[in-house]
Amino acid sequence: MFNVQDLVRDNIKKLVPYSSARDEFKGEAKVFLDANENSLGSPLIKWYNRYPDPLQWKIKEKLSKIKGVPGKNIFLGNGSDECIDILYRAFCNPGKDNVVICPPTYGMYEVSAHINDVEIRRARMLDDFQLDLIHMENLVDENTRIIWLCSPNNPTANSLDRGDIEMILNNFPGIVCIDEAYINFSRQRSFIQELQEYPNLVVMQTLSKAWGLAGLRLGMAFASEEIIEIYNKVKPPYNIGQATQEIVLQALDHVEEVNEMIKLLVAEREILAGALSGLDIVEKVYPSDANFLLVKVKEPKKVYEHLLSLSIVVRDRSKVELCEGCLRITVGAPNENEELINGLKNFLR
Ligand SMILES: Cc1ncc(COP(=O)(O)O)c(C=O)c1O
Repeated sequence: MFNVQDLVRDNIKKLVPYSSARDEFKGEAKVFLDANENSLGSPLIKWYNRYPDPLQWKIKEKLSKIKGVPGKNIFLGNGSDECIDILYRAFCNPGKDNVVICPPTYGMYEVSAHINDVEIRRARMLDDFQLDLIHMENLVDENTRIIWLCSPNNPTANSLDRGDIEMILNNFPGIVCIDEAYINFSRQRSFIQELQEYPNLVVMQTLSKAWGLAGLRLGMAFASEEIIEIYNKVKPPYNIGQATQEIVLQALDHVEEVNEMIKLLVAEREILAGALSGLDIVEKVYPSDANFLLVKVKEPKKVYEHLLSLSIVVRDRSKVELCEGCLRITVGAPNENEELINGLKNFLR
């Protein structure tokens, strides 16, 4: 059965984490001379001379209310990419352990594995972009530490079948990480309410998509207290800067506006999908649960270049397995979508 401690690398088990000045003294004081900060202040914003809260408790308190998950089950990273990297560093022995990914999917699971010298095993998705459970089962061995699932998936835009995910959570004795970067645009329920049920579950979300804060870099991992403790042990002491913490705290008071943006983007997605489907050059618009569309076109390279000549950038995914001939198009603001459609109408083959 699943036991987190059996999976953690020995060096991480033995690790004595860095103890920062802010870890060792948490209260209020008149004079802080414990962290070698600049005691005269900062030229721009006076209090930025101080190190930030290493565990970002104020943000976690607010997030906890929004997400319905206790703060002790939340880790905050410098983007989801840090949440991905730390899982490798904590659970995968370089040159020995392996992980399973399901391509086509988000590229950082693979890049981060290479950086950490961890073997990647690929369970290619089925033609309908769902999981090939039998292939996945055959790939797993006693050194498989993590299965990466992305739902809704980038670049295919669909959500994975919930029953398939549950099957993996119930049977795989390693970490199952579900990347829900696009969950706010989806009809599917998030897995963050299932943490009690599955001790091997890590759910990642981000403020980079629906919250419109890609520039700040704030990724979230939700998991058992035991897994979060490992995350905190391995992370750099002050991984979320003071400026980010302050802006995120303010942004989290604007849930209603974010929900309005989500509604607008989902409505725009459907309008855009309809308009694209009507174009001669478009062969297929795949159903989307995200804020982008995967679109199969007749001459992807030429269409891509044509759009570039109009100063419109989309993502050419035409060489990605199972996405042959496809462009990935982010849903824009209404005027941007109109510009895109007009540009495509003028494409001469
Ligand atoms: C599936 C998925 N996960 C994570 C990310 C990156 O998230 P972050 O900006 O929090 O690093 C992306 C970005 O495109 C993504 O598509």
